[in-house]
Amino acid sequence: MIPPNPSQPGEVGTKNIAGKSESRNSKSEFRILNLEVRCLLREISRISEYRVVLCAIALLAAATQVHSAPPLPKLEQRGQATQLLVDGKPFIVLAGETDNTASSNLEYMDAVWPKVVRMNLNTVLVAVSWDWVEETEGKFDFSLVDGLLAGARKNNLHLILLWFGSWKNGLSTFVPEWVKADQQRFPRARLKNGRPVEVLTTLSDAGLQADTRAYTAFLRHIREVDAEQRTVIMIQLQNEVGLIGESRDRSAVAEAAFDGPVPAELITYLQKNRETLWPDLRKLWETAGAKAAGTWSEVFGPTTATDEIFMAWNYARYMGQMAKAGKSEYALPVFTNTWLVQPQDMVPGDYPSGCPEPLVIDIWKAGAPAIDINAPDVHLRNFNDWSERFHRPNNPLFVPESYSDTLGAANAVYGVAQHASIGYSPFGINNMERYLGGKTDANPQGATRLEDLPLAKAYGLLAQMTPLIVEAQAKGTIGGAWLTTAWPKKDIALGNYIVNVDLQRSRRNPVPSMGYALAICVGPDEYYILGHEVQIVFTPNTPAPEIAGLSRVETGNFVNGKWVPKRRINGDDIVLEWDQAAAAGRNQSGSGLIFGADGPSIQHVKLYRYR
Ligand code: DGJ
Repeated sequence: MIPPNPSQPGEVGTKNIAGKSESRNSKSEFRILNLEVRCLLREISRISEYRVVLCAIALLAAATQVHSAPPLPKLEQRGQATQLLVDGKPFIVLAGETDNTASSNLEYMDAVWPKVVRMNLNTVLVAVSWDWVEETEGKFDFSLVDGLLAGARKNNLHLILLWFGSWKNGLSTFVPEWVKADQQRFPRARLKNGRPVEVLTTLSDAGLQADTRAYTAFLRHIREVDAEQRTVIMIQLQNEVGLIGESRDRSAVAEAAFDGPVPAELITYLQKNRETLWPDLRKLWETAGAKAAGTWSEVFGPTTATDEIFMAWNYARYMGQMAKAGKSEYALPVFTNTWLVQPQDMVPGDYPSGCPEPLVIDIWKAGAPAIDINAPDVHLRNFNDWSERFHRPNNPLFVPESYSDTLGAANAVYGVAQHASIGYSPFGINNMERYLGGKTDANPQGATRLEDLPLAKAYGLLAQMTPLIVEAQAKGTIGGAWLTTAWPKKDIALGNYIVNVDLQRSRRNPVPSMGYALAICVGPDEYYILGHEVQIVFTPNTPAPEIAGLSRVETGNFVNGKWVPKRRINGDDIVLEWDQAAAAGRNQSGSGLIFGADGPSIQHVKLYRYR
């Protein structure tokens, strides 16, 4: 049989993104099939019946393969981590989100796709607005979606589509004009003074039905055009919902609901999950007497936090029904994104009231089980805190918006390493040129090309290490450090050692403002470390021999999942401390790993013990 030539462009074996199926290019599949047929005919004319049968079986197998689409992307618990499976394999989303309306212009997007490939992204988050696909009620035009799919596929990228429907950043500005115009049919939320705001109320069946009809048509269309390729891997439903300007909707229908009973479903959830409820939510409920029935104020107390809980329930119910209906068309994983409380925000309404903040994530889980992830948009500089708050047993970490500079690179690596994150996506990925040029905090190495920006370099290494990382996430043999001058050290207990990570210090250079590391334990005395601007020593965490030394250190890269060493590291590149007595007193050798400012980079280390 003639094997397909893997080096032919456009055929099987062409370069593809991490985890992407190799048998997806239908043109090449057809050519392979053709070869198989020719082979069979040749064989028939000159060989025995027995070999014909064998060849026919092979042909049948090849034909079956051509017609089997890759499996639907899904979230799956694998060992200690919930992972996103794409093409049946754990996948890390190395993504970026475009500005809100960039995706409404396909010509503009034509220039964006190749740029993100240069920065090692495997996925792009782009908006699809209700307004753009249903300008006239009941008439859907998904040609924009088709154009986005074509652009992504041409560049071997996956897509996460953001459904901007009833709400985007709390407001209802992306609804079609026919929704905006008909306020009788699509009522607005109201403030205490009776004035309406440009926000559809969550308590309108007409709004829910109209948005659901559009959203399900959207998902049906994706199934029809993408079930063979699976370019789309997740859906974001709405964008940073919640009421701004007041802690709760004061329209007549909302006031009646607020004075009515808390739904039994929610109470049952609280009772069943009492031990694991977010502590502040549990406290509110318990302080009010842990009641099994009552109005919202009776059950949660007479504060604005109760308004936020009420709003969260109503957004969750609305969106949960949409997510469920959408999944009945095409069951992609679905997430919501959260506008986080900013330091200056005093009460709900200063930030969108009802958004899945840590306080009300449990309310969302109760009200919207069809939404798989409540995801934080981390536009705050303490990523370490926020990633911890959102990574819960029933809520894997995914970050759809955040920073894209050095801090962004640190966030991406840390999330994956410390919180088994399924991925990271900074905002404004279409405009990364803004960082190029001189040396700044955002671009400390003064990169002049997109591929040399801090995020691009970090994504490149994460892509190389993906098979190792996802295996380590499942086994729990991975950890991370996210360091700034406010948090300069981190000890990671991993395998037989504590990995002591510190911001890199040297006599010649000032202490860097930021450093990060990802450590994977692959054997009793063996680690791979991805690091940037950090220094690392190892302290034994198991009985004697009590002192840990470096046995062998090398830099290198993973190529097709295999470690390829580049350089042996020793001497000046490992000595951290000449005071040998002090180091020995801490069960350390005084030597360690140094990751400088030119990184990030990967080192492979083997340790040994002595006494
Ligand atoms: C958060 C929103 O979710 C995005 O759509 C965008 O508006 C950014 N803020 C702007 O920083």
